[in-house]
Amino acid sequence: MIKVSNLSKQYVERTAVNNISFEVEPGEIVGFLGPNGAGKTTTIRMLTGYIPPTSGTASIGGHDVFSESIKARQKIGYMPENVPLYDDMRVREYLRFRAELKGLRGQEARQGVNEAIDLCGLKQIRRQMISSLSKGYRQRVGLADALVNNPELLILDEPTNGLDPNQIRRFRELIKQLGIRHTILISTHILSEVEMTCNRVIILNEGKIIANGEPNDLSRKLRSASTISIELKTSEEKVKDLIAAIAGIKKVSKEHQSGEWGYFTIRAEPGNDVRESIVNLANAQEWPLREIRTQHATLEDAFVEITQANTSDS
Ligand SMILES: Nc1ncnc2c1ncn2[C@@H]1O[C@H](COP(=O)(O)OP(=O)(O)OP(=O)(O)O)[C@@H](O)[C@H]1O
Ligand SMILES: [Mg+2]
Repeated sequence: MIKVSNLSKQYVERTAVNNISFEVEPGEIVGFLGPNGAGKTTTIRMLTGYIPPTSGTASIGGHDVFSESIKARQKIGYMPENVPLYDDMRVREYLRFRAELKGLRGQEARQGVNEAIDLCGLKQIRRQMISSLSKGYRQRVGLADALVNNPELLILDEPTNGLDPNQIRRFRELIKQLGIRHTILISTHILSEVEMTCNRVIILNEGKIIANGEPNDLSRKLRSASTISIELKTSEEKVKDLIAAIAGIKKVSKEHQSGEWGYFTIRAEPGNDVRESIVNLANAQEWPLREIRTQHATLEDAFVEITQANTSDS
């Protein structure tokens, strides 16, 4: 559905997108993640034909987004980062206007508008002025706009930006539902959203793709380097050093001391199961050990670890 090859965007003072390639298959819901300034919006604007790339190519459903831009755009419903709406129009009137701009006429336009209104839960407010809508409803109107011509592909740039947790949850359900009929590329900062709705995640950092895989795979990759929490009955100073001396342990932090019990967090190197060595040390030192627990990495851990390891200036 989407095919991106060696795509780059160079602005005068910086490279916003640096030679990226990826594909999205029909029916996939792909999360497009990355810190601020990573190049997500720039990539999306190239895919939707709003800005030309400096080099490389992109196609939507087999149509090059530049040489066959009209055909490519017909397949896309695009919800930009800051949804631009006409404040002095009513919701339904605006969607009708948008449907016509997208080439729908008569019955077809009416049907497109009605379906989008239903899907996005806008029925109650369809006659309201856009200027009077709350942020959440504005976002929904933006999504309805993207849906009005029933496009095969939805490209949503931070659609839940500025929504409250309830609205985010509703939005997520809506995305899942839309995923049944549409291919979706969704840029977001909200990792739980990606974990719950996306089959695949592409992580962008400083204009480059640094990870591309299933959300579970990305967090599993880090699991070998996961964190271990332990509770030891001792307040001796040397505990940290003795644990840190165990082969395969990267870092030991003392979280706190509660009476006789000390709480520690241990980071192990990838591929090392250090739990047995920790138990052996505790036995040898005669420190009662009442808990040893591996904390599994989440997608958030993966995101932080991967983007920090790949960031040049921090
Ligand atoms: N029109 C422009 N002219 C010059 N530089 C730009 C322009 N648009 C974006 N940039 C720069 O390109 C880089 C990528 O920006 P982009 O908006 O694509 O990031 P993003 O991943 O969408 O970030 P965010 O999460 O904050 O939305 C940034 O360093 C940004 O300052
Ligand atoms: Mg952006």
